[in-house]
Amino acid sequence: MDFKNIGKEAEKDLEKANDLKVLNEIFRKYLGKKGEITRIFSSLKKISAGERKNMGKQANLLKVKIEKAIKEKAEEIKKIAKLEKVKKERIDITRPGYKLEIGHLNPLTLVQREIGEIFQSMGFSIIEGPEIETEWYNFDALNIPKDHPARDVWDTFWIRQDDFKSKEKFLLRTHTSPMQAHYMEKHHPPFKIIVPGKCFRHEATDASHEIQFYQLEGLVVDKNISAANFRAIIEEFLRKFFKTDIEIRLKPDYFPFTEPSFEVSVRRKKGDWMELMGAGMVHPNVFKAVGYTQSPSESGWQGFAFGVGIDRLAMVKYKIDDIRLFNSGDLRFLNQF
Ligand code: FA5
Repeated sequence: MDFKNIGKEAEKDLEKANDLKVLNEIFRKYLGKKGEITRIFSSLKKISAGERKNMGKQANLLKVKIEKAIKEKAEEIKKIAKLEKVKKERIDITRPGYKLEIGHLNPLTLVQREIGEIFQSMGFSIIEGPEIETEWYNFDALNIPKDHPARDVWDTFWIRQDDFKSKEKFLLRTHTSPMQAHYMEKHHPPFKIIVPGKCFRHEATDASHEIQFYQLEGLVVDKNISAANFRAIIEEFLRKFFKTDIEIRLKPDYFPFTEPSFEVSVRRKKGDWMELMGAGMVHPNVFKAVGYTQSPSESGWQGFAFGVGIDRLAMVKYKIDDIRLFNSGDLRFLNQF
């Protein structure tokens, strides 16, 4: 039996082994059921008792030697694997981090929040209302009966009637003014509210008109309220919003739900006028429609209301020339805010 050669071969095999799978095969090759060493032990039966003792001893020494070598190799392989794993998983704390994209608020959201804060600081409450309205709240309650020519001013998206069982006609609100009626039906003066919200008009778009835009309704009802109070509040608001003295222009206008009515414009940096809002003193017919039984002269309650374009305010503040940019999804535009 060539113990020397088996020992040398095992040494060579072990030298080449670099993973536990190969090591396992080597174990089987020498020490497994059909392995070389096992074979030597079974062949001992066939030789004489004298020889057996010597051979058995040598075979045993070889077995222990190979077992020891395999064990040591296994340890070495495990150690190397562990080192490699640590090397791979090492965290380089000096490496610069990845910048997180946290997105931006749309300028309309920023402006709406800022307007809300300014009016709250002046004692106004913020109210919200539905975007789907009935014909009654959007028009009739605001002193705009069915055949009133003023309805043409608000090109309306009507909602298909067969979608509802109600006799009421539904529409996408064309302005935030219906909230005047909703609020007054449920609350008694005095109060000061603002109502920001989305409005919809079925009209052609251009640089200052969108089919979907935002308005902010304001409504103040109290005793001894006059158009002078309106002017003072609006000037105060615009000063705080634009953070500088700006030139505004009040012109007589016409709205069925206010009397007298005004249009308020602001002078832009480039010199032209941008219309910002419609406004006026609440019409007695609106008070009547919401259930205030006494006339303003009997009750003493008077009020002013205004509807300002939030998009337009943002355009003037950030010098944006085209209203359509707000909803364009253009990141080059949005990333600036
Ligand atoms: C109204 O909608 C009235 N409800 C305003 C009002 C409220 C008057 C209370 C009296 C009392 P007007 O249609 O003018 O009015 O719109 C008011 C403002 O909304 C405009 O000055 C403008 O700033 C903005 N606006 C109107 N239409 C559009 C549009 N298509 N795109 C963007 N902004 C618009």
